Amino acid sequence: MKSRAEFIHRENKKGIIGRERIHLDKTDSTNTWLLKRPHLLKIEGLVVYADEQTAGRGSKGRSWLSIPGEQLFCSVALHPQLMPGQLPSLTLFVGVAVAQGLTRLGVKDIGLKWPNDILLNHKKISGILCEAAQPGGQERPCVVAGIGLNLRGQPGATISHTATSLEEAGYSILRNEALDAILWALYGIYSHIQEQNLSHLMKLWRTHSHTLGKNVKIVGGEMAIVGKALDISEHGALIIETADGIVEVNHGSLFYL
Ligand code: BTN
Repeated sequence: MKSRAEFIHRENKKGIIGRERIHLDKTDSTNTWLLKRPHLLKIEGLVVYADEQTAGRGSKGRSWLSIPGEQLFCSVALHPQLMPGQLPSLTLFVGVAVAQGLTRLGVKDIGLKWPNDILLNHKKISGILCEAAQPGGQERPCVVAGIGLNLRGQPGATISHTATSLEEAGYSILRNEALDAILWALYGIYSHIQEQNLSHLMKLWRTHSHTLGKNVKIVGGEMAIVGKALDISEHGALIIETADGIVEVNHGSLFYL
């Protein structure tokens, strides 16, 4: 028998993103929970959100420290009209939705750090983890877009020294308010993706970018690339001017110099 928490709750909302939602009291990770349920992944725009995560996951195989009551943890099932090579750009587009949603709630000085960080006052407030799945019988790829957002918490206490929270920055925003605003923005962004209006989304990313124009170091495995971040490619790679010429980097951890 299904637990009560697994029942889909239909919201009276316009737009496909977040019209159907599943609220969990507690799970290991909302991304893992959704990835393990191919029948639910088929529901385009389905949102799973939890009060508590016991094994939250971050990008590059890291864990995402999850503090109950202090963060928003949610995952959205997306079926983007993107070619496999374009999928990395989805992380950037979801970041734009988080930036737009927070801006709409009156939050100022939001910036996007390539590839998956959202900054507030130059400190990390939110992270995106997009993971592809193939539930079968689907023409389009199925991606779980996970969003973590710090609502409360003080740097050095429950969140790291390099992070911030809405509360620390002086904003009192409820979890569900933040969720609704982000999902509403994601609906607009997703419509552009489905209409193949990707250059518009790239422009939006550039507008919110905290990375372009800065001197950066990208580290990934054995590799380290140092140079000036010039632009993003149509596939979401970071274009860097190095001492040896222009290079495109698809993944890695970015540090400002
Ligand atoms: C990062 O910045 O490294 C990405 C963090 C993504 C965290 C969110 S919280 C909801 C969803 N479930 C997870 O386990 N991870 C994502």
